[in-house]
Amino acid sequence: LDGFDVVVVGAGFFGATIAERVANELGRKVCVVDRRAHIGGNAYSEIDPDSGIEVHRYGTHIFHTNSDTVWRYLQRFTEFTSYRHRVFTVARGRLYSMPINLATISAAFGRAMTPQEAKLVIAAEADDHVHAHVHVHGASVAQNLEDKAIASVGRTLYDLLIRGYTQKQWQTEPSELSADIIGRLPVRLNFDDRYFADRYEGMPVDGYTAIFQRMLKSPNIELRLGVDYFDIADQIRPDQLVIYTGPIDRFFRYRCGELGWRTVDFAREVHDVDDFQGTSVINYADADVPFTRIHEFRHLHPERDYREPKTTIYREYSRFAGRDDEPYYPINTTADRAILSGYRMMMEKRPNVIFGGRLGSYKYLDMHQAIGAALKTFENEVTTFLAGRELPS
Ligand code: FDA
Repeated sequence: LDGFDVVVVGAGFFGATIAERVANELGRKVCVVDRRAHIGGNAYSEIDPDSGIEVHRYGTHIFHTNSDTVWRYLQRFTEFTSYRHRVFTVARGRLYSMPINLATISAAFGRAMTPQEAKLVIAAEADDHVHAHVHVHGASVAQNLEDKAIASVGRTLYDLLIRGYTQKQWQTEPSELSADIIGRLPVRLNFDDRYFADRYEGMPVDGYTAIFQRMLKSPNIELRLGVDYFDIADQIRPDQLVIYTGPIDRFFRYRCGELGWRTVDFAREVHDVDDFQGTSVINYADADVPFTRIHEFRHLHPERDYREPKTTIYREYSRFAGRDDEPYYPINTTADRAILSGYRMMMEKRPNVIFGGRLGSYKYLDMHQAIGAALKTFENEVTTFLAGRELPS
């Protein structure tokens, strides 16, 4: 690895953004390694050879952000379509719009409701639940996920749309899950059915992988795919900067313990029809349907001329991750947070390593957050490390 100023571990959005900035803004040499055989991290997209449709191997990725900085930065590498994401949930044989809005509430209660009526119905149900809770447990605070969810959406919507889905996601009864693994569930008292509320949203015109190809194109960047950092770590000198976007616990050989993650398995199917479900993502809320969602990728690009009467779908199944699974969603229990603070102390003793991205910070990050964090890390930490440091030639 002689001759490189920076070694970036991971070719996802965090690593690719830093590599691009170091190469193009500072004109310094970067080696990007990824253990996978492709660039793009979890945002990777590819053409399914059996249908000709561009699929997202690690699940549907929709770009959205409120950040002018991130939006402007990405325009250098792609244009975006005007795609707007909308999600539906199937429950007990009927279809509902998500996140919960006035159309969802009206459908769930079987009658048209005004915003005021919907608000009252939900508040009354939430109240009933709190009173029943005080009666049984003698306390009124929301202690578990079920209590917290019912306080947001009431019993009817919770039973119909949230309970079974959450149970499948976590393989645990929601009444046994901690309340702090979910935020407040949104309820819109209008007919706004857009999934994301951000100012900017769209799909990259040529797909995600094309963005990464353009970001990593500089002659200052050398890409090594299929290379695990731990097989080359001993070649790195202290005057070289490492940007590590892999799992933190693995970096420190699990010395403070293993951090908990959920993973998902995707079952791919190719069907000989030009449309399987009519939209890109449908959630399945019933506990007795084993999968949580079906993704149908052709709907992400309605502007494309996909001619073959074929479509690729992925059924998504959720479970706890073992050490060899792809880590997707941090679980973040109290025990996880204690382990993480142990690793944070160990990080401070590694001055030439910057930890970042979703795996390196043990945080769920959307793509725009990973890019935004990488741009900040570049400005604040990478430039400082490299300033005045020239590699011996
Ligand atoms: P990312 O995981 O992409 O990259 C890390 C890379 O490091 C990987 O390629 C890995 O192989 C590599 N690596 C790890 N250890 C290594 C080692 N030891 N040696 C070499 N390489 C190593 N976001 C959004 O904005 N909109 C959306 O719709 C979605 N949808 C979505 C669905 C699902 C199912 C998930 C799990 C996630 C999303 N996301 C999303 C989030 C999005 O995937 C996320 O923001 C980015 O992947 C973050 O990029 P990073 O670079 O941080 O990690």
